[in-house]
Amino acid sequence: MKLAEIDTPALIIELDSFERNLGRLADAAAKGGVGLRPHAKTHKSAIIAHKQIALGALGACCQKVSEAEALVHAGVPDILVSNEVIGRGKLMRLAALARLARIGVCVDDPAAVAMIEEAAGALDTTLTVLVEIDVGANRCGVEAGAPALRLAEQVARAPHLRFDGLQAYQGAAQHLRSYAERRAAIARAAELAETSKRMIERAGIPCPRVSGAGTGTYRFEIESGVYTELQCGSYVFMDADYARNRGEDDRMQPEFEQSLFVLATVMSRPTEDRAILDAGLKAVSVDSGMPLVVDHPGVEFIRAADEHGRLQLARPTNTLRLGDKVRLVPGHCDPTVNLYDWYVCLRQGKIEALWPIDGRGAIQ
Ligand SMILES: Cc1ncc(COP(=O)(O)O)c(C=O)c1O
Repeated sequence: MKLAEIDTPALIIELDSFERNLGRLADAAAKGGVGLRPHAKTHKSAIIAHKQIALGALGACCQKVSEAEALVHAGVPDILVSNEVIGRGKLMRLAALARLARIGVCVDDPAAVAMIEEAAGALDTTLTVLVEIDVGANRCGVEAGAPALRLAEQVARAPHLRFDGLQAYQGAAQHLRSYAERRAAIARAAELAETSKRMIERAGIPCPRVSGAGTGTYRFEIESGVYTELQCGSYVFMDADYARNRGEDDRMQPEFEQSLFVLATVMSRPTEDRAILDAGLKAVSVDSGMPLVVDHPGVEFIRAADEHGRLQLARPTNTLRLGDKVRLVPGHCDPTVNLYDWYVCLRQGKIEALWPIDGRGAIQ
């Protein structure tokens, strides 16, 4: 089948640019001497995780236990749940996964360490644990320094846990538009991570791993010399929000290519300046702004209803007609992916493969 024959709304991967993105970050990590553990919360796909591992990735990150389950059951051998997991049900599932694969998880609270130890002990498995420190994102994470050391000591004492290092992800820095601001935010994050690592090592506890970084900042984590593994996710696909980040020369020229698109069809042309697509809120996420319309200059996606997307056409009326297919760049890739069961993978306009989105809806 060709692009024009695909029924819509559909989630499209352009394989050539997608593969270049995979290779580009794998090369940068290898050159920088750091490990790569790409975030699967972006793609939720075992096929893609296996491709990343084939290019040298250490494994994958997941954000939820159910996401990890989807990947482990599809043969991904090494997963870090780069998040806090609370509650006996979830922790027992996590401990059970540790019988099938190498599983890591983050902690930022002494009570959580006790809960994880109890679950791992109940199944007599070992879970790898990273202490998450807050390096400026004001999300999860214990304070750097002495509080991080206290947690590391508690983990190191727990018989079914293996303390492996720190998670120091600076989420708030990823979409700072200026290069200089992103660099400064990561310099501060690296300083906090290094101080904590030194304190832990001085207490006699090995701290071999510092994990973090996203698509917007990874080069600064490499340059810091503190981080040992990168968790970038969005680089595989990119989105309209990431494309607004500015580079060192202050221009918006992303180093990764847009490889993910939503394909939609013009279902109505009620007026000269309005076209309606069959893709609304249930086909494309709008939390980071409206999608961008590709290939049609002067056409703007201005509003998303449940199943309708409204396009504003610049005058004079351009050529969009009933039944035309339109490619959209999602504002935010991760939540858009979560709306679909399949990727339709294209190379030079022809369908090459369908890949299931194994972790779709895996939010528990
Ligand atoms: C803990 C963690 N690591 C890594 C990432 C990946 O970031 P990005 O998709 O911006 O590359 C995220 C994204 O939110 C995250 O929460």
